[in-house]
Amino acid sequence: MDLVVNGAKRVVEVDPTTPLLWVLRDALALTGTKFGCGVAACGACTVRVAGHAVRSCVTPVSVVAGKPVQTIEGLADGGRLHRLQQAWIDEQVPQCGYCQSGMLMAAAALLDKTPKPTDADIDAAMTNLCRCGTYQRVRRAIHRAAAAGGKP
Ligand code: FES
Ligand code: FES
Repeated sequence: MDLVVNGAKRVVEVDPTTPLLWVLRDALALTGTKFGCGVAACGACTVRVAGHAVRSCVTPVSVVAGKPVQTIEGLADGGRLHRLQQAWIDEQVPQCGYCQSGMLMAAAALLDKTPKPTDADIDAAMTNLCRCGTYQRVRRAIHRAAAAGGKP
């Protein structure tokens, strides 16, 4: 199966029903995308497919064949952090960190669609769960990144 992950063509030999999460982690060694619940409830496994936030634990890999997939490893532009990553650092968002790659990918999809989100927009889009309770800092960081402008 032909995939396009973080801008690179990748060929994988997997059952087409395999969840994208396991193809990313096991076949492509992109372990920044995390397993949390496996039932589309927590968002730890969020990646972007054609710009949209997708829960990769319940997405068969066949669905994304030929479409651009972006994982946390592809969010920075070479050595230059994405504005969301910089805002995450500036606001000291992460605690344990486990949910954070999914949070960042969901936030990137949000800014792509809504460059200046309100608190309500953020609350509606960011349905990811965080056991450490970083929600308020996530919100502040998204506002900071939105104010910085630039690449979605
Ligand atoms: S692991 Fe996919 S939503 Fe929880
Ligand atoms: S930072 Fe620990 S689960 Fe979110």
